[in-house]
Amino acid sequence: MIDILIMVSGGGTNLQAIIDGIDNGTITNTRIRAVFSNNKKAYALERARNAEIEAKAMSPSDFPSREDFNKAMLEYAESLNVDLVVLAGCLVVIPPEFVDAFPNRIINIHPSLIPSFCGTGFYGLKVHEEVLKRGVKVTGATVHFVDKGTDTGPIILQKAVEVLDDDTPEVLQHRVMEQAEWVIMPRAIDLFANDRIRVENDRVKI
Ligand code: GRF
Repeated sequence: MIDILIMVSGGGTNLQAIIDGIDNGTITNTRIRAVFSNNKKAYALERARNAEIEAKAMSPSDFPSREDFNKAMLEYAESLNVDLVVLAGCLVVIPPEFVDAFPNRIINIHPSLIPSFCGTGFYGLKVHEEVLKRGVKVTGATVHFVDKGTDTGPIILQKAVEVLDDDTPEVLQHRVMEQAEWVIMPRAIDLFANDRIRVENDRVKI
């Protein structure tokens, strides 16, 4: 059985997919130890409380500096003794010392097929706006290990989603969530929980 910490910032639909995945057996051998948010108003925290999961929120504005916030966030994460940290709609920058504390034990969901439409500034709806602006016919989502770059760690799973001519960014975002994110994030956690993921030369083998 592995313990996971899920870090969120917004609505928590990926968190909900993980909670539901554990309940329906899609995700095995896994316990959600806690949910952390940098946003005290995140609806994801409500989802955690409804599922009777420990929910912790820390706002950077509560601390004298970003360094103090980062230190408190890392101390909290380390206090939980988790096997895996899952960034599920988490918009806080993960500092290098946090990555060093969890080598190849932090995974993130990005709403595009990395290396397209990713990197600094590419998050949330902005990703889908750029996809539509470029006119690509296929997009999707990626689950990857987190390293010290932005969306640059080894890729674990990807799932493609069709872009339709009349898509708006909001409609496309929902299709990518429903058809890709909520499928590959639970699957990646289950693979990790059952020791099915190997990283060799920065490439993931399953
Ligand atoms: C999702 O599109 C996810 O890919 C991105 O943040 C968005 C919000 O996710 N990282 P959620 O509803 O808070 O899980």
